[in-house]
Amino acid sequence: MRVTAEARDILATATDLLVIPVTAIGDEKRLPGRLSGLDRALEGGVEAAVASGDFRGERDQRLLLYPNGALPAKRVLLLGLGKDSGVDADALRRVGGTAVREGTARKAAKVTVAAARSRRLRTGAMAQALAEGAVLGSYRFDAYKKKAEDAPGEIATVQLSFDPGTDLKGARAGAKRGAVLADSQNVARDLSNAPGNALPPAQLAREAQKVAKEVGLRVRVLGTPELRKRKMGAILAVGGGSANPPRLIALEHRPKRRKNAAPLCFVGKGVTFDSGGISIKPSAAMDEMKHDMSGAAAVVGALRACALLDVPYPVVGVIGAAENLPSATAYRPGDIVTSASGKTIEVLNTDAEGRVVLADAIHYAKTEYDPCAIVDLATLTGACVVALGRWATGLFANNQRLSDRLRRAGDVTSELAWPLPLMEGHKKAVKSPVADLKNTGAGREAGSSTAAAFLAAFVGDTPWAHLDIAGTAWTTHTTPYQPRGATGVGVRILLELLADWKSPKL
Ligand code: BES
Ligand code: MN
Ligand code: ZN
Repeated sequence: MRVTAEARDILATATDLLVIPVTAIGDEKRLPGRLSGLDRALEGGVEAAVASGDFRGERDQRLLLYPNGALPAKRVLLLGLGKDSGVDADALRRVGGTAVREGTARKAAKVTVAAARSRRLRTGAMAQALAEGAVLGSYRFDAYKKKAEDAPGEIATVQLSFDPGTDLKGARAGAKRGAVLADSQNVARDLSNAPGNALPPAQLAREAQKVAKEVGLRVRVLGTPELRKRKMGAILAVGGGSANPPRLIALEHRPKRRKNAAPLCFVGKGVTFDSGGISIKPSAAMDEMKHDMSGAAAVVGALRACALLDVPYPVVGVIGAAENLPSATAYRPGDIVTSASGKTIEVLNTDAEGRVVLADAIHYAKTEYDPCAIVDLATLTGACVVALGRWATGLFANNQRLSDRLRRAGDVTSELAWPLPLMEGHKKAVKSPVADLKNTGAGREAGSSTAAAFLAAFVGDTPWAHLDIAGTAWTTHTTPYQPRGATGVGVRILLELLADWKSPKL
């Protein structure tokens, strides 16, 4: 699907579906001035819909009209935006998503979206949001379905149509950025949605290599012998119960400028399936634990976008990939394992495996790359789902500036991140009487914070933030640009963090 930005008269545009967003129409039921040309062409058909009260421009309200030759457009869809004051980037993402879904349902090859000037958003930001919504809304996870006879249509072109005379430089750049971000997020969704049998650690590594080759990233993959040589006893313990051995994956984006600058490191939890191990999970919804590598998926997607958008800073992605299964070779409750950092971990619950994998991945990021900052992403705790639900990612940090920047990036991208505390008490709660650390905290109390405190022990002084995406990586609630299943959360917020990176002084 191609997304283009043009400046032309929508009433003169030949297209299969012309989508016109309309803000809320008051109780006077007066036709908005912008629609008068369309109304004349349709011989009063819009006015009648408005005067009757059938179409009021309420959020997500739709009215489909058939010009029947009166316009070059085959269909016109009026799409309600709700109150003008509420029209922000996310409202436009929703428009992009609805436009594509409605077009697909009608087997449209070309969809045109009217992007009128806005007081609040620049043309670049508008085009980016519309493109993101369109490309995200076009996502389907159907790789494992036999091709259906009545397969839905494929849209070839989404045309963003600005008012004639609009300077298109910003709009074109925005449309490209939006499409790249959304395509990269869709790559992350594909990885997250893939079932455990299709995506063991070695396959996740191959997928990362494939992406790296396509966009020009350097890639390293460490298998069991290298993990042993590096004394990565933590990731090896978690992966030890599975016939599919663990991998550590690194993706490097090195722009020509600032080649020798310290990179920003993204670290992802890549548990390709989390059964809980010997501390096995209840079977209800255990299938969803195929997405326990969503942090890793976000890292792959983000690095892909870094390469395609020529991000002017070095960025490295590190992924700890392992499968957590119970077996005769699985790690046990009570085991004490030695991580690559030398710190020992008492395993009190084999289901708290994410932090154990991340211990070695974070240590690798630090010692191999000496990063200016680390941001890790992990579906780490059920406690975070309880605290924030699907509405926000949990945000922890040892650096206030980095936390503030991520919070802002979350607001801009609508991948909301909400700060949660990381206190001395939480750090105490992960001390073990028999080892340096234990992998559980204080029972059910502050489970997300004690998990973050465990990670903090491996981070040291490096500026660091931890995004607990347990509640935001998977959804059963669909929106115009989000089907059920994996969300691909993380790609947009990380790239927005980089857009604002300028002086990485933290
Ligand atoms: N992958 C889970 C966390 C999770 C739960 C992610 C629900 C997404 C949705 C993680 O490995 C886990 O099992 N955490 C345990 C930790 C506990 C044993 C200390 C949890 O949160 O229950
Ligand atoms: Mn677990
Ligand atoms: Zn897990």
